[in-house]
Amino acid sequence: MRVGVLGSGGVATTLASGFLKHGHEVLLGSRTPEKLRDWASANPEGKIGNFADAAAFGQVIVLAVKGSAAWEALRRAGEENLGGKVVIDSCNPIADAPPANGVLRFFTSINESLMEQLQMQFGDARLVKAFNSVGSAFMVDPDFEGVRPTMFICGNDADAKKTVTSILDEFGWEAADMGSAESARAIEPLCMLWCLPGFLRNEWTHAFKLLKK
Ligand SMILES: NC(=O)c1ccc[n+]([C@@H]2O[C@H](COP(=O)([O-])OP(=O)(O)OC[C@H]3O[C@@H](n4cnc5c(N)ncnc54)[C@H](OP(=O)(O)O)[C@@H]3O)[C@@H](O)[C@H]2O)c1
Repeated sequence: MRVGVLGSGGVATTLASGFLKHGHEVLLGSRTPEKLRDWASANPEGKIGNFADAAAFGQVIVLAVKGSAAWEALRRAGEENLGGKVVIDSCNPIADAPPANGVLRFFTSINESLMEQLQMQFGDARLVKAFNSVGSAFMVDPDFEGVRPTMFICGNDADAKKTVTSILDEFGWEAADMGSAESARAIEPLCMLWCLPGFLRNEWTHAFKLLKK
């Protein structure tokens, strides 16, 4: 698969390297591609460019930018480069204000989500929320002593969710489909929960697992 990754932070570079590791072609994009030189040196088979280059290249797109910049990043990627494509949305709507007793502050409220806003604005893209509820260190091939952690996903397009489920499977995750874009109202705040042990006790080495019987 050709994967276009939007972003230059830890999530974008980790997922971009993960896709290469799992045999996919990758173009990593930033507003300033010079920022990506280190990643390009460490990943010579990967390509770099701007957001539009990444979106045009990808059959699947990964959106991994600051939550408040997600709309702007997709706008720069170009609606014409997103139409019909699976867009994996890893973004969280984290506000600039500091956490309150370890609880991150969001710029959205409980009956709305960033993903729904993006899906409304970019109606032809097939957004799937994924990779937002774990630290970047565990996104690719996490080692929890043989236990596959659960990645909660949601989105309006069933085929897009199938594609993301198979990517998660390759990356060592079990996907749990939580429904349509509205379900991002529940999945985005999981990042608050994931970060709490980190902010309170400096514990950052966990992942969620959904138990079923
Ligand atoms: N860090 C984690 O472990 C983690 C885990 C799960 C989910 N997330 C979520 O994943 C996303 C990426 O996180 P991150 O820590 O890797 O990076 P980040 O520091 O949150 O974001 C950096 C990215 O945001 C882009 N950006 C900033 N302002 C912009 C603007 N005005 N217009 C367009 N793009 C802009 C930057 O683009 P340029 O490259 O052009 O500068 C850069 O690619 C976030 O939404 C975060 O909440 C993070």
